[in-house]
Amino acid sequence: MRKTILITGASAGIGKATAAHFHDRGWNVIATMRTPENEQELAGRENVLVPRLDVLDLDSISKAVQAGIEAFGRIDVLLNNAGYGAYGPLEAFPRENIVRQFNTNVIGLLDVTRAVLPHFRENGAGVIINVSSIGGKMTFPLGSLYHGTKFAVEGISEALSYEAEAIGVKVKIVEPGMIATDFAGRSFDFQNDPAMPEYQGVVGKVMQVFASGAEMQPSPPELVAEVIYGAATDDSNQMRYRAGADAHQLLDARRAMEEDAFIQNIKAQFQL
Ligand SMILES: NC(=O)c1ccc[n+]([C@@H]2O[C@H](COP(=O)([O-])OP(=O)(O)OC[C@H]3O[C@@H](n4cnc5c(N)ncnc54)[C@H](OP(=O)(O)O)[C@@H]3O)[C@@H](O)[C@H]2O)c1
Repeated sequence: MRKTILITGASAGIGKATAAHFHDRGWNVIATMRTPENEQELAGRENVLVPRLDVLDLDSISKAVQAGIEAFGRIDVLLNNAGYGAYGPLEAFPRENIVRQFNTNVIGLLDVTRAVLPHFRENGAGVIINVSSIGGKMTFPLGSLYHGTKFAVEGISEALSYEAEAIGVKVKIVEPGMIATDFAGRSFDFQNDPAMPEYQGVVGKVMQVFASGAEMQPSPPELVAEVIYGAATDDSNQMRYRAGADAHQLLDARRAMEEDAFIQNIKAQFQL
């Protein structure tokens, strides 16, 4: 029997690549997104449903989940992928941007999970895969908000896994390194306030490193899709999956080093 995955943020990047990857392997795909009317490629495929789902809109979440269940009979895997990055000095952020960052990356993920859990509980089965980041295990300067959300995703996922086991559900976490998507462009909420000169040295140095990082070879989103597919189908109890050579390198270093030494290392990289 064909299995079904529901994906949030399937309009672009990792979500879109994952939708195509699962569909190519014979899955039904509920490729949810904020603006399905703009979707050309996925919408034309058989066994792909493209409902509107904005993780900030509860009504759209429940309607998309219901539409998915009606179309395919059941959901086997939930991929919480929708998200973006807010970077910059905390003091430079309007409060509404802070709330939006946590509402999207954290509360939205919880709301979608809560909308699917009753279905999984009824089936006594299901896999929840949460897209975290290497930034859920380590931090870069100016990332108090983004890393705050991804550390939250890590803690939520790990803690949820205990109770999920009681209803036959597995919770998994995918930690990509740098991936070639719109993340650093359209999905980057960078805030700075030149009226606070104290921060401008840090901002300048960090932006310089980020800009030179953009010239490095990021992994393609298809690589993350493959890792997600592995997590969805390996039937193991493995919780965390890294995606990308840089993710392995950085998280191995994070694990191998004392915390203070690792932070000194990050500071040295940014010349702070
Ligand atoms: N790229 C990286 O280097 C990287 C590394 C580690 C982790 N990640 C994580 O990977 C995930 C996907 O990012 P990406 O790299 O694929 O970036 P992307 O290409 O910019 O995709 C972001 C997706 O999230 C969606 N989204 C944003 N706000 C939403 C909302 N309120 N409701 C529903 N969907 C929403 C976007 O939809 P719209 O098209 O409507 O804007 C888009 O589909 C994120 O959670 C990100 O934190 C990315």
